[in-house]
Amino acid sequence: MNVHDSEKMLGVLQEEYSRTGDPRKADLIIFNTCSIRQKAEQKFYSELGSIKSYKKGRPDMKIGVAGCIAQHSGKNILRRAPYVDFVLGPQNIHKISDMVSEKAAPFALEDNSEIAIKDLPVKRTDGLKAWVTIMYGCNNFCSYCIVPYTRGRERSRYSENIYSEVVELADNGYKEITLLGQNVNSYRSDTDFPGLLRKLNRVGGIERIRFVTSHPRDLSDELITAISELPKVCRHIHLPMQAGSSRILRLMNRGYTYEEYIKKVAMLREKVPGISVTSDIIAGFPGETENDHQLTINSLKEIKFDGIFAFKYSKRPGTRAAGMQDHLKDEIKSERLNEILKIQDEITTKKNKLLEGTTQEILLEGESETDKGKLTGRTRTNKIVHIPKIDIKKGTLIKVEITKGRRHSLEGII
Ligand code: 5AD
Ligand code: SF4
Repeated sequence: MNVHDSEKMLGVLQEEYSRTGDPRKADLIIFNTCSIRQKAEQKFYSELGSIKSYKKGRPDMKIGVAGCIAQHSGKNILRRAPYVDFVLGPQNIHKISDMVSEKAAPFALEDNSEIAIKDLPVKRTDGLKAWVTIMYGCNNFCSYCIVPYTRGRERSRYSENIYSEVVELADNGYKEITLLGQNVNSYRSDTDFPGLLRKLNRVGGIERIRFVTSHPRDLSDELITAISELPKVCRHIHLPMQAGSSRILRLMNRGYTYEEYIKKVAMLREKVPGISVTSDIIAGFPGETENDHQLTINSLKEIKFDGIFAFKYSKRPGTRAAGMQDHLKDEIKSERLNEILKIQDEITTKKNKLLEGTTQEILLEGESETDKGKLTGRTRTNKIVHIPKIDIKKGTLIKVEITKGRRHSLEGII
């Protein structure tokens, strides 16, 4: 979400500014911040401190803070770092140009009810894969999460506007789009999310359609049918479970039990054979007992996700969970996180090994970042595949045979 917001900032500023690789030479530095966990905030404040010296002898240099920390901390940022020139929240990107030129006030933190109606210009650089926002904000108020407070209420873009953006991307050679929203399943404008997928599936030139993130509570039969029927919609779903204990899920205000969650996964796997399912897990939510934690461990063994992102619970000011009893010691959270990661690593490796000998279609993304002698692509199920270098253009769909399954990637031959 933030990477794409940065593309929008670049879009709004593209008349006046171009990108530099060296922040010391920049006329303008913008931090697009994340406040999902405390660690992200700490990183930002240490970076912000380290660029203070850049301004010495460069009185014209401007520094702005955007994103969720900006929204949440507002004027406190200036108290900590008086050399910051402007602060704007994620709903005020459209104002960034006026803020830089001092035509607008240095703080833009208000709610923007038009965010879903007025589209911003986007400056993308990839040429192959594009993020496309379909909705803003979140209404779920999971008890641990700060997002509803920083990104505001849910608002969906009109499907026609999304459609035109995707057609333009296809005209410019883009092959893959990823639809973005905190909870894409509750997308609703002139059509619902399955309807939007059906509409976008018709855009010629686009080969693959992905989407993040899906909330398990709102995963409907219609969506599962759409994934199974629409050839461009990729067989991968990121479906954050958060915990394997129904008691903890209730405290998290997730709106489903573990039993309901596994039923949805079973249905997905039945109706969409070969679908990969990935998830997010939080270790050490307030009041989580050893028994609750073991339920999460058992759930990983039972479900066998293709991959997970796991995090230690992080207390976010102003959220309901922050005020709950029995916050766990960092040590216990770390132990539980490590156990979760270890179990899942074994499962992911095993699942990837099962793919050895199979044929997969990959979209070539270019040279491998780690090995210049190899090319990288992704399967429809979103697994990374490295193949020996051959003379084929980036953006081509090719069939490869998987020769080796590893923890984080696969190897293959054309
Ligand atoms: N602490 C830890 N993890 C969190 N997430 C959201 N808020 C918190 C928090 N306070 C995780 C959830 C979510 C992912 C994007 O970040 O797992 O799915
Ligand atoms: Fe946060 Fe829950 Fe909304 Fe996701 S669905 S952004 S975890 S409140």
